[in-house]
Amino acid sequence: MSASSEKSLSALLDERRTFPPSEDFRRRAGANDPGIYDRALQDPEAFWSSEAKKLDWFTPWQKVLEWNVPWAKWFVGGKLNITYNCVDRHARSARRNKAAIIWEGEPGDSRVLTYGMLEREVNRLANALRSLGVAKGDRVAIYMGMVPELVIAMLGCAKIGAPHSIVFGGFSAEALRERINDAKAKVVVTCDGAWRRGSVVPLKASVDEALRGTPTIQNVIVVRRIGDAAKAAMQAGRDAWWHDVTGAASDKCAAEPMDAEDMLFVLYTSGTTGKPKGIVHTSGGYLVGVSTTHRYVFDIKEEDVYWCTADIGWVTGHSYIVYGPLANGATSVMYEGTPDYPDRDRFWSVIDKYGVNIFYTAPTAIRTFMRWGTELPARHSLSSLRLLGTVGEPINPEAWIWYNDYIGHRRCPIVDTWWQTETGMILISPLPGLTATKPGSATRPLPGIVAEVVDAKGDAVGPGAGGYLVLKRPWPAMMRTIYGDPDRYVQQYWSRYPGIYFTGDGCKVDKDGYFWLLGRVDDVMNVAGHRISTYEVESALVDHSSVAEAAVIGRTHEVKGQGISAFVTLKEGVAADDGLKNELKQHVVGKIGAIARPDDIFFVSELPKTRSAKIMRRLLRDIAEGRILGDTTTLADPAVVARLKTQYQEEG
Ligand code: WTA
Repeated sequence: MSASSEKSLSALLDERRTFPPSEDFRRRAGANDPGIYDRALQDPEAFWSSEAKKLDWFTPWQKVLEWNVPWAKWFVGGKLNITYNCVDRHARSARRNKAAIIWEGEPGDSRVLTYGMLEREVNRLANALRSLGVAKGDRVAIYMGMVPELVIAMLGCAKIGAPHSIVFGGFSAEALRERINDAKAKVVVTCDGAWRRGSVVPLKASVDEALRGTPTIQNVIVVRRIGDAAKAAMQAGRDAWWHDVTGAASDKCAAEPMDAEDMLFVLYTSGTTGKPKGIVHTSGGYLVGVSTTHRYVFDIKEEDVYWCTADIGWVTGHSYIVYGPLANGATSVMYEGTPDYPDRDRFWSVIDKYGVNIFYTAPTAIRTFMRWGTELPARHSLSSLRLLGTVGEPINPEAWIWYNDYIGHRRCPIVDTWWQTETGMILISPLPGLTATKPGSATRPLPGIVAEVVDAKGDAVGPGAGGYLVLKRPWPAMMRTIYGDPDRYVQQYWSRYPGIYFTGDGCKVDKDGYFWLLGRVDDVMNVAGHRISTYEVESALVDHSSVAEAAVIGRTHEVKGQGISAFVTLKEGVAADDGLKNELKQHVVGKIGAIARPDDIFFVSELPKTRSAKIMRRLLRDIAEGRILGDTTTLADPAVVARLKTQYQEEG
């Protein structure tokens, strides 16, 4: 464990404040019987099957779970359709005219889609996809901004059983191409462009560039979000406007019956190598997992307005903007832009505008708001809020307290939710009507989840000792495999401790059984809540013709959680200057996307290596974080570190 996490750890474990739910909240909460934990522990299959019965199945399952470590099948033999559950069944009920999606555009336009309207839009798109030859099992890539058509596209795919692969709109053309090719997608759905702080992100132009090397793509569907200013060029025979193809399509479409284990989507995430992993989620277990957790963790009520601020390009948006809330017939708010446009109180004005009751965001956003000052939220009432949530990284107690004081006005429980792209659903979190929270702790595993902190040998560690977070029982929304690479699935998650899922996170459990997450223990950084692998950034850097070698580390960053520092050695004869630094940063943006732009680049004459030629990133992190250096005895040349340190202090 790095010295920085040791430091934050001691601060965390000094945290003794606890916040029990108010009596009023507890009484009204959907989950307020503490017996739920024991019941789920005694008979998890009975617990999950009673939750699964809240969905509509075309054919009931014969067996809740078939577990051949590490291959899981949930609700074996069951058939259902995700979109039928998220849209159609509500559109045929008293919820027909209830808002499913309340959308706020960045320029201030807005749209409300009721369940009835959503059903018709989804059907048109589903039929349009079919008319382009998309059939059950064909993959569809989606590369869009946060517009309602993104949700319609996902649900349209799910309606006809075509797995979607959503690529975050901030990824570069090259990153998009890599993901399209890995999934062998047939169609891309995109926008002409996206609004970002008043300017246009040319999404269609990136698609055109990506498609120069994607043999499987046959068609592109383009949403006209921007208009002429986007200057989108349409290629005849390949590209079609969304409004043309859906305008010509029927608004009736029968839902494809899907096996519970049929693939619903693939979503790429960074692993410990340069190649992103396509995380595969299937239909039945995933929907049971996300609808159950959305209902219990967010205490969703029929009349609630719920807002998760994530981008749908990440798993949080998949599970908790779209599938979880819509399966529960909730009203889900979706916002297109950034929190600082046109002003830094945009989020608070959206909350007041729509009367948001439940608000779910990331610690990095909260730390940004703290910096901007309390006057901004104080300009707004925020009185509709009754529950707050966080996700994506550990929340430092100061940020938690600020969130509680200035956003929740000390009235709203806070749910700190731990989970991963791979887990599909929240696994460790308070239940807001039951759990006394502690700032900085995700508290306890949810009912039905068995998590533990173990040492390197796999033995459980005692209270207060640090170790690795593992999961000891399967759960319905767990990933099923890595797309096209089952060996990597076994290797990555199930080999360190055979039969036990390895999360890659460090953790401690306190004497009350509360879990305190400590960050990644592998070479994955968490930058502003985004997972980025050090190898990915290193590969992007060495791809540049001037670079000989690169070592990338995540160093503690006040707002982003981690910032990216790169130590680079240049090829013979290349001049090291600021111009080249900027060029290298741009090169990384071009290879991966702006989220991976290094915060700083240091040109060094050599990198510290062990005698077996492994780069010692730990020492580089120590240097970057200004700490006294740890053990350097295994270094091939200890003087390298001293030189680096002096240079870093002079330049940094
Ligand atoms: C981290 C995002 C502490 C963790 C849903 C995990 C957290 C990685 C929390 C997954 C939390 C997520 N407290 N750490 N509440 N939530 N993480 O796949 O390191 O983008 O392994 O999924 O984020 O990131 P991913």
